[in-house]
Order: sequence, then structure tokens, then C-alpha cells
Amino acid sequence: MSNDPLLQPFRLKHLTLRNRIMITAHEPAYAEDGMPKAAYRAYHAERAKAGIAMTMTAGSASVARDSPPAFNNLLCYKDEVVPWLRALADECHDHGTAVMIQLTHLGRRTRWDKGDWLPTVAPSHAREAAHRAFPKRIEDWDIARIIGDYADAAERMQAAGLDGIELECYGHLMDQFWSPRTNDLDAPWGGDLTNRMRFSMEVLQAIRTRVGPQFIVGVRYVGDEMAAGGIGPVEGMQISQRLKASGLVDFLNVIRGHIDNDAALTEVIPIQGMRSAPHLDFAGEIRAATGMPVFHAARIPDVATARHAIASGKLDMVGMTRAHLADPHIVRKMIEGREDDIRPCVGANYCLDRIYQGGAAYCIHNPASGRELDWPQAVPVAAGGLRVVVVGAGPAGLEVARVAATQGHKVEVLEAADAPGGQVRLTAQTARRREILGITAWRHAQCVKLGVAFRFNTFAEADDVLALSPDVVIVATGGVPHIEVLAAGNDLVVSAWDILSGDVAPGQDVLVYDDAGDFAALQAAEKIAESGGRVEVMTPDRTFSPEVMGMSLTPYVRALQGHRATFTVTWRLQSVRRDGNRLVAVAGSDYGTAKLERKVDQVVVNHGTRPLDEVYFALKPLSRNLGEVDHDALIGGRRQDVDANQGGTFRLFRIGDAVEARNIHAAVYDGLRFGLGL
Ligand SMILES: Cc1cc2nc3c(=O)[nH]c(=O)nc-3n(C[C@H](O)[C@H](O)[C@H](O)COP(=O)(O)O)c2cc1C
Ligand code: SF4
Repeated sequence: MSNDPLLQPFRLKHLTLRNRIMITAHEPAYAEDGMPKAAYRAYHAERAKAGIAMTMTAGSASVARDSPPAFNNLLCYKDEVVPWLRALADECHDHGTAVMIQLTHLGRRTRWDKGDWLPTVAPSHAREAAHRAFPKRIEDWDIARIIGDYADAAERMQAAGLDGIELECYGHLMDQFWSPRTNDLDAPWGGDLTNRMRFSMEVLQAIRTRVGPQFIVGVRYVGDEMAAGGIGPVEGMQISQRLKASGLVDFLNVIRGHIDNDAALTEVIPIQGMRSAPHLDFAGEIRAATGMPVFHAARIPDVATARHAIASGKLDMVGMTRAHLADPHIVRKMIEGREDDIRPCVGANYCLDRIYQGGAAYCIHNPASGRELDWPQAVPVAAGGLRVVVVGAGPAGLEVARVAATQGHKVEVLEAADAPGGQVRLTAQTARRREILGITAWRHAQCVKLGVAFRFNTFAEADDVLALSPDVVIVATGGVPHIEVLAAGNDLVVSAWDILSGDVAPGQDVLVYDDAGDFAALQAAEKIAESGGRVEVMTPDRTFSPEVMGMSLTPYVRALQGHRATFTVTWRLQSVRRDGNRLVAVAGSDYGTAKLERKVDQVVVNHGTRPLDEVYFALKPLSRNLGEVDHDALIGGRRQDVDANQGGTFRLFRIGDAVEARNIHAAVYDGLRFGLGL
């Protein structure tokens, strides 16, 4: 048996967990009609099959109608959830994985215009910035009703055959009672800690009465809000001790921080460029003080850090949640001695940011996660035998090369630059985005293992490609910045890429005109500001950086607010002219006829990319499919078989930004789908 601390079993009450790695509660927003149907089940089953010890399904599964889903949460106040959860639990149990669920009442952390349009409730009227609720102050009959709702939901979870439940007590109704920031009720529900904890204690008691002493019940709770006037570490420790002393709780899942706005949430769940495992020691202190089984997750993305968390005795179970979105097979790869093959979570937070925008949680570079019903997490090995030429070694090109080579095709990649990465290399110029290189580094390493041949410093023309006698050509050449968007003065502006790459030095007084709304404008603005320049980011949109989602925006705003940076929304740059050694930028507005002018010494335009497609169009008339894509086959995972030109000797496809300016997820999803459709 392995002596890896991570692979040792852990006994929780009567339950033996086969190792120390768990997936903590997270709502990937894959629910259909509020139920965990086939896609939801397949997502958890994939990770169970690969050896995870426990999965805490759902995240914030709702116990009451006045806790409507904030991000497509499961509706555990409905009886119909039971058979769906039973099917999920049965399948995971068959693979040896324990299954629990996180239950909650969101309190003010939701909206009144969702679900049944009931008022949100909280122990004060204090507004939650993230969901914009100005809640109703909870009444005695609400409290009695919700205590019953929790007990009913717990009973349903037990009936579904789950191994246990966890109550969410950070940022939700439970700890809205605990925290003086959100509770201004009088006794018996407000005031001293005993009164502020009364609601949660009564919920726990009601649950115990319903499910009995054996069923596993834990809490995921805040031990230090890290907010003025909130629960500090001393009171947090008192809460920990009281939870233990109650005898009602079987494990503590420790959280540190508060989550009522994007910036605060980003400290609780750190993203790329931030410290790894920032709250691990804190969780360890609670374990040492209480002797309770302690779980914890917060940016423990790699096996080495997870191993340290267990070996050092700080945790009993370590959560690797986003890590398993990026690679569901971590445990299997560890057991097989293939840690090098683990697809790294690069902390891009595309997954979590998406759910707050109403989308499903997709991993930026694992397009099969959340799509397990349609796409394989491990590409099936085959004896393909086609000669595949890929032009471009960015994320799309590397993914298609990886997938094709896994299926036994002979793959050659031609890349103009001296190294793989494409646009990912450029975006990684900002230190906090450096980890994103893992997306292309992992693929490149996998390709090398699979025998893919790389030719760098090769700007491929059609003849270079044809000389390789390909059966299939995939053009993944990406795009180049498009900045010719002005009525006059296009020759006077530079692109965000020029600033990022260092080709153009940052000015001292700069207008960054951002019509794309993505990272490049913010990165350029930050570089200008850091070099001492004054920078104004202007956008025609009604909000700045609309493509950079909530938590990902946090470090940029923080950095730019520390410099001389401003944001101007709803103005569209129209022209730039010279005025002595200065530039005059003239902007209008989509909303009316108003104009404004800025006198600056540099104008930077960020307007996305245009496809780099010469080689594609040169090859198109010679190809068998004339570049045509069968969309049904693409979506259905079948072979591309368009036969439009009898004289053609190869099939030709174009993927990633070489087709249209999109993002990394779209690029690798193209790579996977086309790679499987060869
Ligand atoms: C898509 C997504 C949804 C999440 N939803 C919840 C939730 O509903 N409740 C919860 O307690 N944590 C939620 N989390 C937080 C995770 O449980 C975990 O604490 C966090 O991802 C940090 O751990 P990691 O760095 O291992 O990913 C969510 C995370 C993700 C990625
Ligand atoms: S999107 Fe980013 S943070 Fe989320 S799982 Fe994928 S790599 Fe990790």
C-alpha cells in the first residue's frame, strides 16, 4: 500500500473515506429545472471513477422557496430531488466515493426577482453588494418556517442515500445571524454570541431530531470574517468550540473571509497570481484547538501543496475543487505514478466567474468538464495513421495536435515563433497571469510524449504545408490585433499588444480605448500606470471590461486604483489628430450627439484580433472539403466527411482565433472537437 499521506484512508464517524482528497461544495450550475440530472451525475461520476474519496455535491443547495437559486442551485425543498440525488449517490458509491451535499438558506445572498419572487430575508436590512438585495428583516414566523425547511431538506438528503450533509455558514443566512455586520435583531435572535448562534443551533437540533445521531452533519463556516465589525478570529474560535460542544456536528469545514462583494470573495477563493493555500494555517489552528475532523479548500491546486496540508496535520481532508474541474483524474494519476500528466488548474477562475454571470462552470482549458456526456475526459487511444499538419502552436493548435496524436495520427506542428504558446505567451507577460502558461506548457509536454514533431521558427506558407503531403491540415494561426477603427488617425494609435509585448514604450499621459472589453486593455493600462503614466480607460460599453468577469477583475481594479488610472464608460473613440507633440482624441457616444476631447501623448486601441488566415485561404481551393465544416458532425463528435472537391488531396480545417476572435476555452474546445472528428 502507498505511504503517500494523501492516499491514506480517513475515518469519519462510521464512514471510511478511501483517501484524503475531496471535492468541496460547488454549484457548477449544470442543474436542469433545479435537479441534478444526467449531466450533473456524469460530472461527479467521472471524478468518483478516478478515485476521489468524497464529493460534496451541489453548492448552496436551497432548502426554502425564499432562498431562490442565485446561480442555478439545486432545489432541495422539492421532493422530486430525491430520486435524482439517489441516482447520483448510487453511481458514485459504486465507484467507492462518498457523497454528501451542502444545504443552505441564502438569506440576503440572492435576489427577490428569481424563483417565486418572494422577498429575501436576513437578520437586518443591510444590503448585500454582490446580489444587490436590500433584504426584509426576518420575522419570528420566518425563523420557525426556515428551521423546519432545513430539517425537511436534511431528511430528503438522508432518504436519497447520501452519506451526510454540510450546512453553508459563510455569507448565507446562518452566519448572517452570527455576524454583527448583518444581525441587528434583539434577543433571543440577536445580541450576544449565544443569541446570534441560536438560529443555527436550533437548525442543527431540528436536523438531528429528524435524521438521528448517526447521519453525518457538518458545517462549512467562517472562522474569521476579516471585516471590520464582523466575526474576528477570537469569536470565530468561540464559534468553533461551541459547534464542537453542541455534539451536533461531525466535521468542521473551515472558511476565512467574507463574500459579500467580488473583491472579498476573491480573498476567500484566491485566483491566479495570488498566494496558494493562504488560509491553510488558519484551518490547522482550528483543528489543533478543537480536535474535530477539519476539511478545507482555498487554492490548493497541486498535489504537493495538498500533500503538505495532510502531512503537516493541518487538515484531515483537503479540498481540490477547481483542480478537479481542470483534471478529474488526479487521484488515478497519482496512484499510477503519473503526477506529471495532471492537467494543471491555472487559477484562471473562468469556471467560477461564469456562474455569477448565469453560465455553467466550464474550465478554461478542459472543455470536457461539465460536458462528460458528450466528450471524453481521456481521449481514446487508437491507431489512426493519418498524416496531420497543424499550423500554429497556440492553445487551439496544441490541443488538436494532442488529441490527434493520442488517436495514433502522425502529427507535425509548424510554428512561426521560437516556442509554443501563441497569444497565451503574450497575456502571460503580466506577472499575475504567468500561471496561464500551464495551459500551453501542459499540452506541449503531452504532445512531446506522444511523439508530435514541432518545427519552430517556421512561418508556414501553403507550399511548406503541401511539401509534407498531409491527409489533414489544421490552421490554428490565431489572430493579430485590429486597430483600424477610427474615422481618422489610425496611423497615430498603437495596440494593447504593442504595449504588452514591449514593442512600444508606455506613454506618460495615455488614453486606452477598449472596444473589446477583455484582459489586454487592463493589462496594458496596468503596465502604463506602473511605469508612472496617467491612464484613462475609455469604453463605448456601459460598463468597463465586460469580458473580464467579477473575481478576475479584482486584482486589476485594485492595482489600477493604486495608480493614476480612471475609467470612462459610454464614449466611443472616433478620431485622433496631432496637435504639436500631443494627440487629440475625439470621442462621441452611441447614446446621443455629445462629443468629448482628450489631449494625451499616446492612444492605445484594444479592439480584439482579426484572423491570420492567409495560409488557410491559399490552401482552401486545393483541399477536398474546400474548408467546409459539417456542423452537425462537429457537435455530434462524428468524423468530418465533406467531399466538395474530388481533386483535393487533404482535408482542411481552421480553428481558434484563426476563425474568429474568441477565448482560450473556445480555442481548446475547437481543438478537442476537430481532433476527435478527424
Ligand atoms: C463553480 C464553483 C461554484 C462554487 N460554489 C460554491 C458553493 O455553492 N458553496 C460553497 O461553499 N463553495 C462553493 N465554491 C467554492 C469551492 O467549494 C472551494 O471552496 C473553492 O473553489 C476553493 O477551493 P479550490 O481552490 O480547491 O477550488 C464554488 C467553487 C466553484 C469553482
Ligand atoms: S477555469 Fe481556471 S480556475 Fe477554473 S478549473 Fe479551469 S484552470 Fe482552474
